[in-house]
Amino acid sequence: MSAPRLTAPTFEHHHNGFGLGYSEPRLSWQFEADDSTTKGWTQIRYDIEITWTADQKVDHFSVDSDESVLVPWPARPLRSRESARVRVRSSGKGAGGSVSESPWSPVSVVEAGFLNRDDWKESFITSSERIGPNGPLQPLRFRREFTLDAPPDKQWHARLYVTAMGVFQAYINGKLTSDEEMAPGWTSYKHRLNYHVHDVTALLRPNEQNVIAIEVAEGWYAGTLGFRGGTRFLYGDKLAVLAQLEVYSDDMSFSSVLVPNKDWQCRGSPIQSSEVYDGETYDAWLEDNQWNVPISSASTGDWKSVDTIPWPSAELVAPDAPPVRVTQTVEAVDIFKSKSGKTIIDFGQNLVGKVQLRKIDVPEGTSLTFQHAEVMEHGELGTRPLRLAKATDTIISAGKVIRDWAPRFTFHGFRYVQVDGLPEGSSLVSKENFVAQVMHTDLKRRGDFVCSNALVNQLYQNVIWSMRGNFLSIPTDCPQRNERLGWTGDIQVFCPTASFLFDTVGMLKDWLQDLAAEQLQEGRGSVPPFVCPEIPMPGWPHMPEAIWDDIVVLTPHVLYQFSSDKKIISRQFVGMQGWLENGVKRGADGLWDEDHWQLGDWLDPKAPPNDPSNGPTDTILVADAYLVHTTEVFTEVCKVLGKAELVEKYSSQTDDLRRKFQHKYISPAGKLVSNTQTGIALAIQFSLYRNAQELSLAAHDLTKLVQRARFNIATGFAGTPVIAHALTKVCRSQLAYRMLLEKTCPSWLYPVTMGATTIWERWDSMLPDGSINPGTMTSFNHYALGSVVDWLHATVGGISPAEPGWQQILVRPIPGGNITHANVSFKGPYGLISCKWELVGRKFSMYLTIPPNSTAKVILPSDIPRDVTRGEEVKHQILGSGGYKLECDFEAAEWPPQRLIAPHISPPEEDIA
Ligand code: BGC
Repeated sequence: MSAPRLTAPTFEHHHNGFGLGYSEPRLSWQFEADDSTTKGWTQIRYDIEITWTADQKVDHFSVDSDESVLVPWPARPLRSRESARVRVRSSGKGAGGSVSESPWSPVSVVEAGFLNRDDWKESFITSSERIGPNGPLQPLRFRREFTLDAPPDKQWHARLYVTAMGVFQAYINGKLTSDEEMAPGWTSYKHRLNYHVHDVTALLRPNEQNVIAIEVAEGWYAGTLGFRGGTRFLYGDKLAVLAQLEVYSDDMSFSSVLVPNKDWQCRGSPIQSSEVYDGETYDAWLEDNQWNVPISSASTGDWKSVDTIPWPSAELVAPDAPPVRVTQTVEAVDIFKSKSGKTIIDFGQNLVGKVQLRKIDVPEGTSLTFQHAEVMEHGELGTRPLRLAKATDTIISAGKVIRDWAPRFTFHGFRYVQVDGLPEGSSLVSKENFVAQVMHTDLKRRGDFVCSNALVNQLYQNVIWSMRGNFLSIPTDCPQRNERLGWTGDIQVFCPTASFLFDTVGMLKDWLQDLAAEQLQEGRGSVPPFVCPEIPMPGWPHMPEAIWDDIVVLTPHVLYQFSSDKKIISRQFVGMQGWLENGVKRGADGLWDEDHWQLGDWLDPKAPPNDPSNGPTDTILVADAYLVHTTEVFTEVCKVLGKAELVEKYSSQTDDLRRKFQHKYISPAGKLVSNTQTGIALAIQFSLYRNAQELSLAAHDLTKLVQRARFNIATGFAGTPVIAHALTKVCRSQLAYRMLLEKTCPSWLYPVTMGATTIWERWDSMLPDGSINPGTMTSFNHYALGSVVDWLHATVGGISPAEPGWQQILVRPIPGGNITHANVSFKGPYGLISCKWELVGRKFSMYLTIPPNSTAKVILPSDIPRDVTRGEEVKHQILGSGGYKLECDFEAAEWPPQRLIAPHISPPEEDIA
């Protein structure tokens, strides 16, 4: 038996280890196993080798431990700017007991960013005088010529430490210093501002004339944000940059740092305006192609001097999250005329990003506009869902050919683009000329799923697209209208799905720090904002809200499930406890105040289009169900953190609240007062029934409701993530499959049958007749209702974490519906987990891969109980790492399940995918 290979180590939850904000980053590695050679392999020791870049000294550490995730940094702390090469090796025992040692992993380079405030010598600079209108602000260009020494006889490297009040792109000698978009991203700028570190070694010409140039636009810093007109200049009305350029010999004996603030100049950009909601206007007449290259004439003209501005209140932080990037390009699939004769380009996919034009060759003075939208309605671009967002880019031609033009500081949510202003017969009107650039936070992909049903697979792809489109610096509700905000409820319900699809831990743990900073500000009563970063919300007073605010407890806990990182829950602890102690607005019984307005099961399909919280499920019941659950999860958090006294306090509080919930909402005979899909599903999922008899009755009631609904969905934000899990928990997974495979509206697959390529905000964002839902809030790219994918992973595919951090995996696929095979995989903290099954007749076969140093608790479908009152422990087996083929006989419950239809109604045809 040989030992598994290891992946290159990673540092904390950082995306690549470069420009790290930690002096003692914890290390992790995964195992790359070969199914047959690493059966039951567990680590018993690891070696870490650290080669310090400065003196090439090698330190070696050997630790007897089975840990391979977030192990302590073994060496002395890193200093600011310091770098080292790190590799790891593991020894372990296989099933037969023989010890083997892995080869050394590939090397990772770790480099610290600025770890102390006084590493910053530079100040923020801005233009010494106002340039352009008073909003939208005209983007600014900064430039500075310089020579910088480099050691003649030594290896050296150069770094740019940079951030902005606004969003920026930096150049050295005409070349972009990185491929980041919308940097430094959106954070709660009053508390935390990201800085970025760029390796600019290859761009600098030592001892010669160089130029550093930076363009900065409003972004989220000064641009209009929010609905109903929004607010401008939320954080400030001056665009500014902070850039510190340093050259070091690799042995750190030589350094040369660009002298602060000297000789910077500033002028307006040919980009006249660039706004998140409204788009960008570029005037090619004003372009100066030499602005960012070292040509001294360029530094004449109307360049102005700069002023420094005071250091902000925010802490400058090196984010763990990867930056936003263009991660894919999508070619246009069609170009056609709208009913009224407008030119429309179709990219075939609703996506988030911007359009690049390969070549623009139009007469001078031509003003071309590109308006973006997600859908067509009645033969025209469907712009009503954008509300006040113009989502329009404009280019004014100077008559010269422009190649590969794309806006720089904005993004849109779109599938279609209307082009106006084109001269007749222009060669621009060819679809080959347009390409969409897909933008999002460049998270690493983790999970995948595919099954025998093509429409379900499309649904899955739609969820991935909606996640990509809404993970743009922060987790947002939607990417297209005048909103694009970090709504807490949306990511709270979607986080388990998101964290399986992509590695969200670094990004969301960064964002949760902003959330806590805003929640714990004075005068907030520990109530988090509705959206983080917080913005003024006309018509939405700051008030406590279940589900949305429960994020402060539930989402760190999900990240803990995916990472086993106790630091995340410990860092968020004060916010969690604050929410339960002071935030929740309670009545005398400790449950939610009866009269408090709640969003409830937001967007239940029965709620009126313009009153989405007014669905049939009692909003306070929904809030109370969540309160019991949140208190229970918090108790678990206290347990993990070893806070024994608090465990006692909050577990008795959970019991008490559960009893009060039962007393208030469950009749003595076991009926829930809100007899709805959402009500019962929440009560099942959060274990709110008193006993197995009540649970059995709940199963019966929920079954009837689902059958009467003819398998249409009847849940909103609260019920959708739990309905399929709840049906599975009460042994009714066939009903969950039946709902999943329903095609009529409302259902998960209805949008797919309408050609959707993303998840919609509403079950019927597009009505069956092709018109857009009349509600003012109608996005075609909202991930919350896609949270059913968590069930696809855990129950259809069959894998979920049995223990926090995936060291023990629960493998429990339950086949059903007309699905004959499924394949799910997840790149977990220990390596690749995969489960592939097929059902041929009654023969179920499963091929399972479990990574080294982890185990799986496997429950075969034949051992899944059929009756919720059956109390005995479910038969399972524990398997160590390796590849397995497991088989059993399996016969699912009746398919398709019956509908419940009144005898006098003649039932319509069933519409099963
Ligand atoms: C957003 C949501 C959000 C909701 C809360 C909407 O405008 O788009 O998804 O959670 O408001 O009220």
